[in-house]
Amino acid sequence: MTDTHTTTTGEQRLATRMARGAAFLGAEMAIMAGAMSWVSERNLVSAMSNAGGFGVIACGAMTPELLDTEIAATKAMTSRPFGVNLITMHPQLFDLIAVCGRHQVGHVVLAGGLPPKGALEAIKETGAKVICFAPALSLAKKLIRSGVDALVIEGMEAGGHIGPVSTSVLAQEMLPEIAEQVPVFVAGGIGRGEAIAGYLDMGAAGVQLGTRFVCATESIAHPNFKKAFIRASARDAVASVQIDPRLPVIPVRALKNAGGELFTAKQREVAQSLDEGKVAMAEAQLQIEHYWAGALRRAVIEGDVEHGSVMAGQSVGMVTKEESIADILAQLMAEAAAALVARAA
Ligand SMILES: Cc1cc2nc3c(=O)[nH]c(=O)nc-3n(C[C@H](O)[C@H](O)[C@H](O)COP(=O)(O)O)c2cc1C
Repeated sequence: MTDTHTTTTGEQRLATRMARGAAFLGAEMAIMAGAMSWVSERNLVSAMSNAGGFGVIACGAMTPELLDTEIAATKAMTSRPFGVNLITMHPQLFDLIAVCGRHQVGHVVLAGGLPPKGALEAIKETGAKVICFAPALSLAKKLIRSGVDALVIEGMEAGGHIGPVSTSVLAQEMLPEIAEQVPVFVAGGIGRGEAIAGYLDMGAAGVQLGTRFVCATESIAHPNFKKAFIRASARDAVASVQIDPRLPVIPVRALKNAGGELFTAKQREVAQSLDEGKVAMAEAQLQIEHYWAGALRRAVIEGDVEHGSVMAGQSVGMVTKEESIADILAQLMAEAAAALVARAA
């Protein structure tokens, strides 16, 4: 068999395995660039969708007006489908859903916990498909019963807010049970195409990557943020530590820096306010989330990678240079195609 034949066979196998996920997204490849607050804005999102993948705007703490502007600007830069990621605890969640509806956004991703009552219905009424994160099998089944159109299962190798279980375990536990019912996208720790081929073989409809796209040429992340990524290795991307058992904080994976100490101090301050009855638990947790949003902005936009939060997954060691989204995707696809050929040999 010639090299050309091998390549073609690999590409065909990959296209077949990605067909369901790609059709669901309306993209050429079943690869999503997971929403990253401050990073996943018009430039990265449109570049991702234009290159044949699927970009997702990170709404984060944006107001409905800001989200409206961001969606309009993204639409001006791409005619291809893209999604919008909304955080379930946002106080104006339903207004944000309405904004997505007015723009006829095709896919809404709900992150940050189980969707509140009525949210799935409100999104579906706009005609959009709903994608949710499923942190455990029981919750995945519950979400499927509630009518989600697709799920993301994300392991603790990922950058940003994380759960306690690794991607490889989640994939083994959940894919055989749910992959036939709805398209499932696997996320967390994916840095190369061989891993993509592996999860597709296990039944995933596609994958979601974040860390790998941060240093894309099209990403507006500050040069210091990109440099920190390029220098870092897997072991530098560590999970935050909860210091007070009464104040449950969702762990965040980020590069080790002085910002980690600042977070410890912030937790002490919030725990003390909780003790003194100055804030209720929900407010205390919201203060922690606001802290992260601010710390991430400081690093991504202002370039203070020492005191800000450099959220990054363990795959950061595989980010070695700044390159275009199209090049990153081409590399991932070529690695995945080659792996599928090698496995069938
Ligand atoms: C800098 C950064 C910011 C992130 N912000 C968000 C966010 O706002 N909302 C969200 O749902 N996920 C967020 N994530 C998670 C990504 O969407 C994606 O699921 C994750 O990066 C995938 O794992 P990987 O980093 O191992 O590729 C963030 C990740 C990073 C690295």
